[in-house]
Amino acid sequence: MADPFRNTPPAPEDNGVMTAQNVAAALAGESQASQKYLAFADVADAESYPNVARLFRAVAYAESTHARNHLSVLGGIGTTTENLKAAWGGETFEIDEMYPAYDAVAKLQENMSAQTSIRYALKAEMDHQGIYDSTLKGVEGKKDVDAKPVRVCPICGHTVIGDAPDECPQCGTAGSYFKEF
Ligand SMILES: [Fe+2]
Repeated sequence: MADPFRNTPPAPEDNGVMTAQNVAAALAGESQASQKYLAFADVADAESYPNVARLFRAVAYAESTHARNHLSVLGGIGTTTENLKAAWGGETFEIDEMYPAYDAVAKLQENMSAQTSIRYALKAEMDHQGIYDSTLKGVEGKKDVDAKPVRVCPICGHTVIGDAPDECPQCGTAGSYFKEF
């Protein structure tokens, strides 16, 4: 009988500065391709091509396996405690530096759409920072996070633990549309 499937990406390895840069570039590219294909799948569904949508979702999954393998080679996947710290750090950088700087440029250049997408992301990253912070405290004491649903606004990514609001405070989408995890 075949061994049970195990989702084990390649082990971390740090030989070669140029290789590390190449793998980091490939991680960014594969991540982006996966996201594009998921968005393309939604369009195919809306245009009544359900099997084109299925194809896009399958290839998005394939690209995400490549992204995860590249991330593993770069040593970017750790224990849950390490991963929560890394996730908190990434959100904090986006909140404190990246998005405020990007927003300033978008304002200077009067790009209203970019200001909107940046504001949605910045506000949602603040939700995530807080959730990761409290979750990390629990996991450091070997305690899993509460079994409550996590609900996410499909338009702006506003993220809450437990009940959705009547209306999203960031973008006004009705809470009944929030996606539950
Ligand atoms: Fe929203």
